[in-house]
Amino acid sequence: MSDFFELVKKRQSTRSFSDKPVEREKLVEIVDAARLSPSACNSQPWKVIVAAEDKKIVTEVAESVALLGINKYFANAPVFFVVLEEHAKLNRSIAQIVDSQIWAPGDLGGFTLTLCYAAEELGLGTCVIGLFDRPRLREALGLPLHAKIKLIVAAGYPSTENVRHKERKTLEEIATFV
Ligand SMILES: Cc1cc2nc3c(=O)[nH]c(=O)nc-3n(C[C@H](O)[C@H](O)[C@H](O)COP(=O)(O)O)c2cc1C
Repeated sequence: MSDFFELVKKRQSTRSFSDKPVEREKLVEIVDAARLSPSACNSQPWKVIVAAEDKKIVTEVAESVALLGINKYFANAPVFFVVLEEHAKLNRSIAQIVDSQIWAPGDLGGFTLTLCYAAEELGLGTCVIGLFDRPRLREALGLPLHAKIKLIVAAGYPSTENVRHKERKTLEEIATFV
């Protein structure tokens, strides 16, 4: 089996991290890989804030995640990638018939997942976080009101190497081959 399929099987949401700090070079490599993700009209409607070095900001991101009581696991995550949706500049002919942001959520999903797989390849664990206090995070990061913070990815060296069983729909349930 190729390394890619191994990677896909190995990736799982990590919610417990070791104390080992993540090297700056790895963070750069991860974002550099995500940068290559596909997007509608190659519009690349994403930006990412990597919170890792300023401990005050890392704590503030963790607090904005934990605030809702549900996401309590990320207090010891050493890194947070905060993914923002930007204006998607589509080809002019396409922009005339669809809303400019129509594909941005999909594009951001691809960007975020590439980021997760790149991190996994470098030995890190990740968890995509969709539930967090957006106004609080916006304020903590000094972002303007119109900033669209869409997802956060917590990352770090996992505290365990155990790979859990993946609960998934079967191939038959999700795929039709015609
Ligand atoms: C868009 C998105 C939002 C998510 N939000 C959260 C979240 O807020 N908190 C959390 O603990 N996990 C979150 N997850 C992780 C999912 O629960 C997880 O991917 C799913 O249960 C499958 O498990 P696995 O990633 O370990 O394979 C999110 C995943 C995605 C893709």
